[in-house]
Amino acid sequence: MSAMLELDYANALTAAVGPAHGLSPAEIRRAAADVKTLVARIERERKTGQHAYRQLPADRPMLRAVRAAVRRFRPGTENLVVLGIGGSALGTIALQTALNPPLHNLLPARRRRGPRLFVMDNVDPVQFGDLLDLIAPQLDRTLFNVISKSGETPETAAQFLIVRELLARKLGSRGLARHLVVTTDPQAGTLRELAEREGWYTLPVPPGVGGRFSVLSAVGLFAAAMCGIRIERLLAGAAAMGRRVADPVARRNPAAMLALVLHAFYTRGKRLHVMFPYSYQLKDLADWYRQLWAESLGKQQDLDGQPVVVGPTPIRALGATDQHSQVQLYREGPNDKVFIFLEVVRFARDVKIPRAGNTPPALQYLAGASLGRLLNAEKRATELALVASQRPCLTIRFPRVDEQSVGQFIMLWEAAAAIMGGLLNINPYDQPAVQLGKEYTFALLGRPGYERRARELAARPRRGNRYTV
Ligand code: PA5
Repeated sequence: MSAMLELDYANALTAAVGPAHGLSPAEIRRAAADVKTLVARIERERKTGQHAYRQLPADRPMLRAVRAAVRRFRPGTENLVVLGIGGSALGTIALQTALNPPLHNLLPARRRRGPRLFVMDNVDPVQFGDLLDLIAPQLDRTLFNVISKSGETPETAAQFLIVRELLARKLGSRGLARHLVVTTDPQAGTLRELAEREGWYTLPVPPGVGGRFSVLSAVGLFAAAMCGIRIERLLAGAAAMGRRVADPVARRNPAAMLALVLHAFYTRGKRLHVMFPYSYQLKDLADWYRQLWAESLGKQQDLDGQPVVVGPTPIRALGATDQHSQVQLYREGPNDKVFIFLEVVRFARDVKIPRAGNTPPALQYLAGASLGRLLNAEKRATELALVASQRPCLTIRFPRVDEQSVGQFIMLWEAAAAIMGGLLNINPYDQPAVQLGKEYTFALLGRPGYERRARELAARPRRGNRYTV
């Protein structure tokens, strides 16, 4: 096992950012006592089958199913197209950016560890149409992985219908079956029914695991393994973090400490959580976190059915790029944010800045340094500049970016979301507010069963172009 991730919260303390904006050690001790009870409760619930995502690293049958699918589909596959949205896509994108070369799709096949990967998590017609054009000459070497836990999501369903017709027309019904893997609920839903009826290859989304908690299931693992990511190591990293997040003592449990600190700041009005990776490889993990944090924690009812309206707003920034875009606001704008830096101790590679005789004197300080050193110096400098403006900062330190550390990171934040949900006294596993938008979409497209929604929309006052400029 490679070294563990580290959570450094020194720059969130009063000693760093002052009493008005920092947490005192006494405050942390008090909150740690509450968290202790909460983590112990989560552990008891986990043993009764709740918090099902925590079991994924040990799910051997699932791993075997994924490996079998990879053995069957990997040979001859030049393009893998994932059709899915939200939790059915963001984890796959994050794993690919973190664990394969940034230019994976542009590399020649012999230098790639797997097929080119395209994750289509939108229904933008220009984007989707262009993808279809790109892969058209290689359709017989393209595999489509349709992922939808519910099997009903309109964006994924629309993409699926387009691809099904295309494959059937070009390759016939046997070709269609050879170029399709359906990842969905093991029992229910339209996709499951269809796949069973047509005899398509399927992978299950484990029961009790919601989309945003599903990256370590077949949802994320199949595409990852197809593209050469060592999924056993990813799961080993997650399992190692799973052991740490089971510890009720917060100073030994990074998820508890993370939730505790972010919750304490939340109650003090710092409700914007900026994840700031200083690594291109980690940038899409910040996007994955954004969904996890937002959908899990933004709720209007607590567990007792009382109105609460809670939820931190997760924001993604990228170092060093966003120093030149956001840091002015972050330092001088409202002090309502907590910054969560992601730092990499050792980059997978580094690029030296040459010492050349003709380097202008003003640039000599760069000569002989490296881009990795510069990026880490910028991280430290930005953090210290924020601290100088009394902005609390946390750092999650990756010894290096590899399968193990990424697995740890995923489990860390999933467990932190569960603990934070407990601290806010809300259910982190549902997303009732997403439903209405879906229903209006169904109504606008005339889906039977949504006539009431259609009437609701039709009854809205018509304002013509009165408010259009
Ligand atoms: O986290 C979630 O549950 C959601 O973001 C879902 O992943 C998303 O809505 C897609 O749902 P489905 O996988 O059912 O198509």
